[in-house]
Amino acid sequence: MTFSITLTVNGTPHHLALDDLRVTLLDLLRDRLGLTGTKKGCDRGQCGACTVLVNGRRLNACLALAAQQDGAEITTIEGLAPEGRLHPLQAAFLEHDAFQCGYCTPGQIMSAAGLIAEGADGADIERIREGMSGNLCRCGAYRGIARAVAAAAQ
Ligand code: FES
Repeated sequence: MTFSITLTVNGTPHHLALDDLRVTLLDLLRDRLGLTGTKKGCDRGQCGACTVLVNGRRLNACLALAAQQDGAEITTIEGLAPEGRLHPLQAAFLEHDAFQCGYCTPGQIMSAAGLIAEGADGADIERIREGMSGNLCRCGAYRGIARAVAAAAQ
């Protein structure tokens, strides 16, 4: 049986038929829509590499079934800079050396975007560290990440 959903991804509506109701939002974004900026790290909700915004709130896309997102508005890293200009968070990550290998960076930035939308205060670095604690960085760029998010939240 095929199940149909409609998602608005980065402002573009997509009508999608799902043959397998077990497909995750992460796999759908990467494999069906070609939005490979959203990364697959652990695929079990532990690393945050797959963070996207769903209706403006942060979500680990590997933990969400695509079929449950019918009607949702989704923003991925590709949607942050639609006109090719860096988003302020992307510029802040560059300025504050907030990455090394860069694999976790899209998830870090989407998580930071959600955190700022939640009202994070750039002066409260501890709150920013706590708010970003669901996003792991194996290179250990946490200091730069916290500084970048704080700068973008000012
Ligand atoms: Fe989703 Fe790690 S890939 S949390």
